[in-house]
Amino acid sequence: MTTKRPKAATTTTAKAKAKQRHRYTAATADKYELYQKSVQSADLDVDFLSGTYEKINGRAPRHLREDFCGTSLICCEWVAKHPGNTAEGYDLDPEPIEWGARNNLSKLKDGAEKRIEIYLEDARAPGRKAPDVRIAQNFSYWLFRERDELKNYFQLAFESLAEDGIFVIDLYGGNESVTEMFEERKIDGGFTYIWDQSEYFPGTAEFFCNIDFQFRDGTKLEKAFSYHWRVWGMAELKDLLAEVGFKSVRSYFEGDDEDDPEEGNGIFEPDDRGENCESWIGYLVSSK
Ligand SMILES: C[S@@+](CC[C@H](N)C(=O)[O-])C[C@H]1O[C@@H](n2cnc3c(N)ncnc32)[C@H](O)[C@@H]1O
Repeated sequence: MTTKRPKAATTTTAKAKAKQRHRYTAATADKYELYQKSVQSADLDVDFLSGTYEKINGRAPRHLREDFCGTSLICCEWVAKHPGNTAEGYDLDPEPIEWGARNNLSKLKDGAEKRIEIYLEDARAPGRKAPDVRIAQNFSYWLFRERDELKNYFQLAFESLAEDGIFVIDLYGGNESVTEMFEERKIDGGFTYIWDQSEYFPGTAEFFCNIDFQFRDGTKLEKAFSYHWRVWGMAELKDLLAEVGFKSVRSYFEGDDEDDPEEGNGIFEPDDRGENCESWIGYLVSSK
């Protein structure tokens, strides 16, 4: 996936940094750890989700449903944020779920993990409790490549929400989102994340992408993750969300960095039209 926003700075001593620098090789690296370090910013996601709900409804949300939850990082961040918060996650693959239980849920403090339920089920499965906030992050819903399939998922999301609930999805756009290309990014800890947009077909908007990781010792973990998606545009998503019944569907775009207007500032605000740039990340926030 592309860089979403800069990750929060961490305080690491020079000695620890030197040790980390050579920590990873293709033989020893854990792909889920690398994925979380490269792609996810769960703290920023949770701040955005709860802040947006609060602005719309004048009170804090309490129950989150994370579809395509993978290692459940956002569920963990959510329950850690407030002792009244609860979360449920859905994913079809036992491997990231088990990894998340061992590495994310187990690190939560004060019994917060008891406020999370993770289900090895399809993102379209009925939920256990109506969510205040339901999410599909990192473009995961792009795996629904047929209009009817995606519409059905949106319909189920609409029906599942609690009163005043919001359904939040992110998306990626701009010329770069339909270009066959690589993006390389050095990640703290001594490895390179490579986002490989290997094939795009304009007739179907099918998009084949991979994540590779490259290490300092010259080894490489190729196709650690692979995706077969359809690139959905913001306007067609808005239409679909309105068709299933959402009364309000608002787009959120990232503001410009003060020093470099070519870069984002990590702050997402409602903006119906957006700004046409090479590559952008946006959110769609839908309410009943
Ligand atoms: C791109 S990862 C998303 C991981 C994480 N939520 C994030 O934000 O980065 C997509 C996840 O969707 C899961 N998945 C694929 N099809 C699914 C389905 N129909 N229902 C639930 N999960 C599914 C995969 O197992 C994978 O863990």
